[in-house]
Amino acid sequence: MANTVEKYFDLVDQNQQKFIETLREVVAIPSVSGDASKRGEVVRMGEWLQERWEALGAQCKRVDPGKQDLHGEILDLPPVILGQYGNDPSKKTVLVYGHYDVQPALLEDGWETDPFTLVEKEDGRLVGRGSTDDKGPVLGWLLCAETHKQAGLEFPVNLKFCFEGMEESGSEGLDEIIVDEADKWFKGTDVVCISDNYWLGTQKPCLTHGLRGVSYFHLEVEGPGADLHSGVFGGTVHEPMVDLVHLLSRLVDTNGRIQVPGIYDQVMAVTDEEESTYEGLEFSHKALATDLKHDVIIHDDERATLKHRWRYPTLSIHGVEGAFYASGDKTVIPARVRGKFSLRTVPNMEPAKVAELVTKYVESEFAKLGSKNRMRVIETHGGRWWYSSPNHPNFVAAARATERVYGVKPDLTREGGSIPVTLTFEENLKVNVLLLPMGAADDGAHSIHEKIDKRNYIQGIKLLGAYLHEIAETDLN
Ligand code: BES
Ligand code: ZN
Repeated sequence: MANTVEKYFDLVDQNQQKFIETLREVVAIPSVSGDASKRGEVVRMGEWLQERWEALGAQCKRVDPGKQDLHGEILDLPPVILGQYGNDPSKKTVLVYGHYDVQPALLEDGWETDPFTLVEKEDGRLVGRGSTDDKGPVLGWLLCAETHKQAGLEFPVNLKFCFEGMEESGSEGLDEIIVDEADKWFKGTDVVCISDNYWLGTQKPCLTHGLRGVSYFHLEVEGPGADLHSGVFGGTVHEPMVDLVHLLSRLVDTNGRIQVPGIYDQVMAVTDEEESTYEGLEFSHKALATDLKHDVIIHDDERATLKHRWRYPTLSIHGVEGAFYASGDKTVIPARVRGKFSLRTVPNMEPAKVAELVTKYVESEFAKLGSKNRMRVIETHGGRWWYSSPNHPNFVAAARATERVYGVKPDLTREGGSIPVTLTFEENLKVNVLLLPMGAADDGAHSIHEKIDKRNYIQGIKLLGAYLHEIAETDLN
């Protein structure tokens, strides 16, 4: 194996520029799943992947999950691309997942350059929407397989893949497909690997064994039948926006403490064993404050920050639909507004219980207002948290691969973000799932100037390959 892996590493080094060009090609496809007008581009991106894998000899199956109602517009959901590359009963079978859709991005958001034109910076940043989340990693698997084939190197495992185009919009339709295919397309899977998260810092790689869940809510307040003039009606009617602002302000305090009674009761206590896992991690408030551009960190010590990111629930307020937001002054009383907020959930919180506690609390706060408006709490989706042991051979193989590429032992981390499909794979395929990130903490996923460093991209392609070689040699039982 040593020889093959070294050869593979050399080839990746030789092909660096070609790999960057491939990333440029896919970043140029604006596959924004949350924008109805871009749905054709999302589909085009899925087809691009399928064609490229088929050209390599993979067997693919395109599954169209059906229709979506996006604000009254009925759209086809983008395809889930299932694939099988190699089918040798003497080899292990690894299933990889990734998403080919991206977050929206507009030049007006503050990007220095067009977000869908990859820019290679002198300091090594490859800037473009989707570079790190999740097109770089999705390409990583493809380029790994292509490189092996071109050089005549034996591919170490049977690879199955599942690439979706709706992750950034709640993975609509995917769970059903996984449940349905568990004993069919996914049959024979030994382990799962997902590359769709980030290092804790910028220098040291990590393996990730936990994610938070997310419960998303809309809080709707409706009053008069139409918008009103504030000069005529202000002070004489119950204003929906005033009620809403009041209710939103009751959800969380300015130090991040959730105000919903009972929410913390379901949270697992910190054990001594867990306490020791925070030692020696590549994480500092100094670096975090630099990434944030301005120090707005609530907690005094690093450990508290990590705990609040990984193992405590948090509540964030995202926006208000129906509110006046344009520039200029408009003296309107909006007739109907919808606040949006979400909770990130942790072991052992149950989404149903979370929804019950939130609804009950908001209703009781609303009752205190004595308002004649109508109020509704709607849970739009509830994805569960995932927590797994990092001692499984799948993690051991990934740690070895990391040492081989980067020369250091990876940190073991959890994440504050969510990838709901992780748990779906674990429960339905009944195999171990590993998160193996490619990008770094400062990549700015979902933000302006999203990037992946050239180093992380190129070494990441090596890492994914090295991991497959390690798995081939690992006793999984
Ligand atoms: N790649 C992220 C998941 C992630 C975020 C991992 C932060 C690690 C840190 C993924 O694309 C994402 O953004 N997921 C959504 C899921 C939601 C729509 C259910 C998220 O976390 O908000
Ligand atoms: Zn992602």
